[in-house]
Amino acid sequence: MIKVAPSILAADFTKLGEDIESVKSADYLHFDVMDGSFVPNISFGVPVLESVRKITDMILDVHLMIDTPIRYVQKFADAGADIITFHIEAEKEEYIQKTINEINKYGKKAGISLRPDTPVQKIIPFLDSLDLILVMTVEPGYGGQKFLDEMLPKISELRSIINIRKPDCDLEVDGGINIETARICVEAGANVLVAGEDIFHSADRAAHIKELRGH
Ligand code: DX5
Ligand code: ZN
Repeated sequence: MIKVAPSILAADFTKLGEDIESVKSADYLHFDVMDGSFVPNISFGVPVLESVRKITDMILDVHLMIDTPIRYVQKFADAGADIITFHIEAEKEEYIQKTINEINKYGKKAGISLRPDTPVQKIIPFLDSLDLILVMTVEPGYGGQKFLDEMLPKISELRSIINIRKPDCDLEVDGGINIETARICVEAGANVLVAGEDIFHSADRAAHIKELRGH
């Protein structure tokens, strides 16, 4: 089954509650945390997640675009994250498994994300303990960018590896996803589609989520 994860980075923050309500038929709610260091932009963090947790039962899919994420695992877990995904490039090699263990320690699902220029091989040693792999299909930092077609072989390669080693691991794509790019990502093997502008700028969000899912 294909899952859709609206990214609230594209929501109207003056009416975030209403915007979340409008996408509640989706599978996950994607929450982009940016620190102005790992990525140039700053978005939102723990207090906003706490508020979001109070108003929705949706699965909160937290995407940490922050340096040394191990420092913040407990804070985001306590704030109500269900899935915590961090960037492999943002953590020292010797802390990567520790970060996954820390996420699991708080009963949360763990994901690792790869920037567009990070090779698949980097993730292999950690695959067995992951619930989700997030392939960035744009350079992380901003919504509304153009999908990078050259990520498709990476998605296919990861799908083959996941099917053999960890079939229940989600393969999520993020950046520039719309009806057309969603279709080619699903064909390549993705099963979770993050979409920000494409969903929040659509006239009928619930219908659009269905269309992205393919039914
Ligand atoms: C980008 C973020 C994305 C972003 C996607 O760094 O990780 O989740 O919200 O936005 P769209 O779907 O508008 O490209
Ligand atoms: Zn994201």
